Amino acid sequence: MTETLEKETFSFQTEVGQLLDIVAGSLYSNREVFLRELVSNASDACDKLRYAALTDSTLAPSEDFAITLEIDAKAKTLSISDNGIGMNHADLLETLGTIAKSGTGAFIEALKADDKDKPGLIGQFGVGFYSAFMVASRVDVVTRKAGESEAWLWSSNGKGEFSIEPTERATNGTTVTLHFKKDANEFAEDPRIRHIIKTYSEHISFPVKLGEETLNVAEALWTRPTKDISEDQYTEFYRLSSHAFDAPWHVMHNRVEGTLNHTSLLFVPSSQPFDLFEPERKSHVKLYVNRVFISETTIDLIPAYLRFLRGVVDSQDLSLNVSREMLQTDPKLTKIKTSITKKVLTELKKKASKAPEEYEKFWGNFGAALKEGLVEDAALRDRILEICRFASTGSGELTSLGDYVIRMKEGQEAIFYIAGEDAAKLALSPHLEGYKAKGVEVLLLSDHVDEFWLQHITEFDGHPFKSITRGTADLDEIKADETQTEEEPEEVDLSALIGAIKAELGEAVKDVRPSKRLTDSPVCLIADDGDMDVNLERLLKRHGRLQQGAPRVLELNPNHFIITKLAERANGPDVSGDDLLKDAAHLLLDQARIVEGEAPTDPPAFARRMGTVLARAFAS
Ligand SMILES: Nc1ncnc2c1ncn2[C@@H]1O[C@H](COP(=O)(O)OP(=O)(O)O)[C@@H](O)[C@H]1O
Ligand SMILES: [Mg+2]
Repeated sequence: MTETLEKETFSFQTEVGQLLDIVAGSLYSNREVFLRELVSNASDACDKLRYAALTDSTLAPSEDFAITLEIDAKAKTLSISDNGIGMNHADLLETLGTIAKSGTGAFIEALKADDKDKPGLIGQFGVGFYSAFMVASRVDVVTRKAGESEAWLWSSNGKGEFSIEPTERATNGTTVTLHFKKDANEFAEDPRIRHIIKTYSEHISFPVKLGEETLNVAEALWTRPTKDISEDQYTEFYRLSSHAFDAPWHVMHNRVEGTLNHTSLLFVPSSQPFDLFEPERKSHVKLYVNRVFISETTIDLIPAYLRFLRGVVDSQDLSLNVSREMLQTDPKLTKIKTSITKKVLTELKKKASKAPEEYEKFWGNFGAALKEGLVEDAALRDRILEICRFASTGSGELTSLGDYVIRMKEGQEAIFYIAGEDAAKLALSPHLEGYKAKGVEVLLLSDHVDEFWLQHITEFDGHPFKSITRGTADLDEIKADETQTEEEPEEVDLSALIGAIKAELGEAVKDVRPSKRLTDSPVCLIADDGDMDVNLERLLKRHGRLQQGAPRVLELNPNHFIITKLAERANGPDVSGDDLLKDAAHLLLDQARIVEGEAPTDPPAFARRMGTVLARAFAS
């Protein structure tokens, strides 16, 4: 090992610099959470050493784990010491100077953009160690890694740089000393610190001491009987363990006894965490074996589609004497995972039926993640489908598939849906017109994942899912609502017009047909029966998975003024030399494309044709 004897100075990673500027400068009403963050780091450090000592007995601590606070009221400092794992030179460089959390960039942007919401945002993201700079003008960290002899002093005023130099420390562990800013001197007072610890760190599982006195109960909350735990205590624990400010949307505390004992204390947050849709899809539920912390991100404990859950799972029936990697392939863990997953789905189902309005909030935050389970968890697919909710053309409320089926019209076989980017825009799509006219409800699917589960699940309760942007609309079989009188449309012969449009558009369309699905718009584009649905094709193209889509079918509304007029014209003499008909063919196709959110095939030609047609309109 190369000994570094000099004091070295380093720059913070750019993102950390930006973060510190915001954190230090913010008029942050809830500054006291800095202590929660530092105590939770100290507790994590003890957890880590306890775990490391399982496989390397030379690391076994000689004294009990504890977190010790020391206030110097005169010097206006507070130090937080632990006898945990500690950090060496490389650890310091890697951790206190960089930020590896996913979603950091997005988070910083959000912080910059929105002033009002800062406390919530900061809490949700968990600025962690850096929150010390909300209250401190200088932070010193003296640390020594377990099993090593060198100790280091890390120091920074939070203004772009930090230094590291060798120092002395008698035992392993870390001491973080905060030199308070003038406006934060209140934190160098005994009663204030006691109060903060009571508020935020009551259920840290190691004793937090001030002098000789232990301030917290130092007992893992989840080991206590449910009836002895108040709602406030649950909320506190949730905030502590997930760096959150909100109250949990739902708390699930369960003890399973039998062949495989385990306790789970799980929370559904009431707002969407920043990293929910990061590609890692990390779980944040902590795994403990008989109260010893093992790991935080194992997907072998919580399926990725439930990654919004926070909290802990503890089992005394897993073996402590195996590595994290081996534990992950332990069939017992798989059993626990299944048991927890089922339990969570059951609880969600209860919430959905008992409190549908509250459930809508949950669904807005986490529905898109949960639906991934429809693809990934074939065994529980039906149970997941049951608790899925969808926007529809029905009422303003979300609907379950079961309820949709109950409302289906006489003669309606399929569950109709339209998929796209934005539910609000979908609701205005011309494809819906015929369905609306008949009072037939259509689901509006606007999450990316919808396209993917629809590849796996083709029916519900015997009813096939059918996209209304693909294939023919067989609305004739469906009986309209009593109140809506069906106007028998006047038959117009479109065949000459269709022939003319086909001749003009050539390969650009697969076919041209009269439409049953349109009532107000003149045209729309659909995918042909065997072809890929419009939205899926759009998604695949965007992700570079598809170069060229299949040409679409252009449907004409036989009852629309423009179409009937054009049909009359097409039935007249000299169709082949009719420039207006030709321009109209292109304009109709482009109009249909624009409604789909796509660009006209050839924008200059589109503009020219539009000009010509408008000029003619004024000339006559
Ligand atoms: N008291 C400590 N003992 C050992 N390592 C620590 C301590 N405090 C902070 N660290 C290290 O610094 C990292 C960053 O801490 P923090 O910003 O709170 O993020 P997080 O706790 O979410 O990882 C920790 O992951 C840990 O590696
Ligand atoms: Mg932390």
